[in-house]
Amino acid sequence: MSAAQFSAVRGRFLDIQQLVHQPEHIADQVRYIEDGLLVSENGKIRYFGHFDPSQIPTGIVAEHYPEQLIVPGFIDTHIHYPQTEMVGAYGEQLLEWLNTYTFPTELQFKDKAYAEHIAEFFIQQLVRHGTTTALVFCTVHPESVDALFEQAARLNMRLIAGKVLMDRHAPEGLTDTAERAYSESKALIEKWHGKGRALYAITPRFAPTSTPEQLQRAGQLKAEYPEVYVHTHLSENKNEIAWVKELFPDHQGYLDVYHQYGLTGNRSVFAHCVHLEEHEWDCMHATDSAIAFCPTSNLFLGSGLFPLKKTWQKQVKVGLGTDIGAGTSFSQLQTLNEAYKVQQLQGEKLSAFESFYHATLGSAKALSLDHLLGNFHIGKEADFVVLDLAATPLQKLRQQHVKHLEDALFALFTLGDDRNIAATYVDGQCVYVRK
Ligand code: GUN
Ligand code: ZN
Repeated sequence: MSAAQFSAVRGRFLDIQQLVHQPEHIADQVRYIEDGLLVSENGKIRYFGHFDPSQIPTGIVAEHYPEQLIVPGFIDTHIHYPQTEMVGAYGEQLLEWLNTYTFPTELQFKDKAYAEHIAEFFIQQLVRHGTTTALVFCTVHPESVDALFEQAARLNMRLIAGKVLMDRHAPEGLTDTAERAYSESKALIEKWHGKGRALYAITPRFAPTSTPEQLQRAGQLKAEYPEVYVHTHLSENKNEIAWVKELFPDHQGYLDVYHQYGLTGNRSVFAHCVHLEEHEWDCMHATDSAIAFCPTSNLFLGSGLFPLKKTWQKQVKVGLGTDIGAGTSFSQLQTLNEAYKVQQLQGEKLSAFESFYHATLGSAKALSLDHLLGNFHIGKEADFVVLDLAATPLQKLRQQHVKHLEDALFALFTLGDDRNIAATYVDGQCVYVRK
């Protein structure tokens, strides 16, 4: 056996200690340590608490960040790596946007070398923005999945991803069949699920691009491998919803299509859910399915305003998603900035502590990874971010005038982006340092 690998980091730490059922209780779970220490051993947290030099293993020098704020790595619960190059595609809403921009872009990922090139760029963008775990759409091409997992493995990053399933309403080079969806996904599950920190998600794009036969095969696969994830889109756009109702007239609505094919459950993540009906909220709760809330995307594509408050009322798990390339930023700080405005437009407030909860422990829970990620509990995986709260002249001025910690965080979420990420640690190791 090789020798244990240690690292030690000293500084100001902030995390959320426990999951809560209502947002009023989040403040009680905020843990702030002014002079703290985190020691990791083989990627797991071995000590976390007040600075105590006796906890630093012999021969290890603690990296000291006296000015910064160290938080758990951000978790992105919905993102498309092949769409990295097309962020900011002009003028369309969902269905036209897919045909005009997305499908032509995704066709390129048939080429493994191209997929590798973008996958490498994508992983670099994640860590540059402080994101240490993501649930990722690839394309229909199995090579696109290999390329992504291979790049993530270089950093030993915990990543969930899968091959897209589409057997209709898409260009020829982007479709598989019901049978190939099954066999190719199965081979990828066998190859990647649980290999290092990689996890697999069965990934039908959305109901309109799968035949009933394909959804049935996806459900069969999920039944065979209950430990893998299901990742898809749901109720994002009004025209999309109307189309699903036309294509699946015998179902009680959009979510019922996925539900009847066995695709709901505690490892199922549905991106958007902007326009869910009451009975669909109840089904999300009853099946313990999760929502990925993607505010920059919902605003950019004009999809609508996600009712975040409803997730608390209905006790439905929710995480934050950037949804690159319909979303406009890799930054969870920018995503929270837009999340706040989406709530404002509905007459609701999103507090900084609630935002912080969603970006860390809440998203970990949405991915059923809260036993491994989301805060600094001993034994969890050592993924964290060193934040510089005052990275620009405007931020410096604003931070000089903050009233308390929550105000400082709120200013960070409003004004922040990748300029605020001083360093990112994955699996206990520093994988990014801001130049
Ligand atoms: N619905 C189906 N495919 C997509 C996609 O690629 N992006 C978004 N935002 N919605 C979708
Ligand atoms: Zn998406």
